[in-house]
Amino acid sequence: MFLELKSIHKSFDGQKVVENLDLTLEKGQLLCILGSSGCGKTTTLNMIGGFLTPDTGTIFLDGADITTIPPEKRPVSTVFQSYGLFPHMTVLENVIYGLKFRGYKKRQAREKGMRYLEMVGLQDYANSAIHEISGGQQQRTALARALIVEPKLCLLDEPFSNLDAALRVKMRKELKALQRELGITMVFVTHDQEEAMLLSDQMAIMDQGRLIQMGSPEEIFRNPANEFVSSFLSLSSLRWEEDGTLLKVIKEP
Ligand SMILES: Nc1ncnc2c1ncn2[C@@H]1O[C@H](COP(=O)(O)OP(=O)(O)OP(=O)(O)O)[C@@H](O)[C@H]1O
Ligand SMILES: [Mg+2]
Repeated sequence: MFLELKSIHKSFDGQKVVENLDLTLEKGQLLCILGSSGCGKTTTLNMIGGFLTPDTGTIFLDGADITTIPPEKRPVSTVFQSYGLFPHMTVLENVIYGLKFRGYKKRQAREKGMRYLEMVGLQDYANSAIHEISGGQQQRTALARALIVEPKLCLLDEPFSNLDAALRVKMRKELKALQRELGITMVFVTHDQEEAMLLSDQMAIMDQGRLIQMGSPEEIFRNPANEFVSSFLSLSSLRWEEDGTLLKVIKEP
C-alpha cells in the first residue's frame, strides 16, 4: 500500500480522540475522510502531515516509516482550511515559495510557477496581491502552492468550506479533474456527505475517533456497515455519467 496507517491512537489530556485507526490508500487515489464535527478528522490528517505525532501506531508512505519525521521533511503537502497564504507576497510568489528550499534558480522557479498557475486557471493573476483575489482564487493559489513541490501525498482539510455553494461545486469538479490528470494521491477531509461521495475513490467514515467503514462510495452506499452509516449518509439513490463517474447523489427526503 502507498499510504498505510497502522493501529493509530491519539489522546489529548487523557481523552481519546483517535482510537485504533487503520487506513490504507493506493497510489493515485483520492481518499475522503468523512465524519461529523469533532470525530477526529483533522487530528488524523495532522498526524499524516506530521503536525502531530501519534501516541502509538505507525504511518508508512511509499514504503518508508514517516511516523516521527517533521512536516517539512515529509514528501507531503497540506492545504489548510484557512489556506495559510502569505499576505505580503503576490500570487506567484506564494506559489513558488516552497521551491526556494529545493535548489531552484529564480527564473526556473517562476517558469514552473506559471505552469502551475495555468493549471489552476490563474495565469492572469500572477502579480496580484492576495487581498485582491477572491476566496476561490485564493483556494486555487493554495492548491498550486501545495502541488508545485510534487509531493507524494497532498492533504486537504475542508478546503472549500469558506466558499459559497456554487463555487464549492465548481472547485470540487476542478480538483477531481486535476487529481485524475496528474495522478496525485490525496487525502481530503470533509463533513459534507455529498462532497465526499462525489470526490472519493475511497471513503473512510469516522465516528468518535474510530473508523466505522471504508470502501468506494458505491460500496458504502450499497452495503452500509450499520445503521449509523446509512443514517449518516441518508442517501436514496445515485446517478452516474456514461463513463462511470458518479454524477449526483440524491438525499432522502
Ligand atoms: N490540540 C488539542 N488539544 C486538546 N483537544 C484537542 C486538540 N485538538 C483536537 N482536540 C479535540 O479532539 C477532538 C477531535 O478534534 P478534530 O479537530 O480532530 O475534529 P474534526 O473531526 O476535525 O472536527 P471538525 O469537523 O469540527 O473540524 C475534539 O473533541 C477536539 O476538541
Ligand atoms: Mg477539522
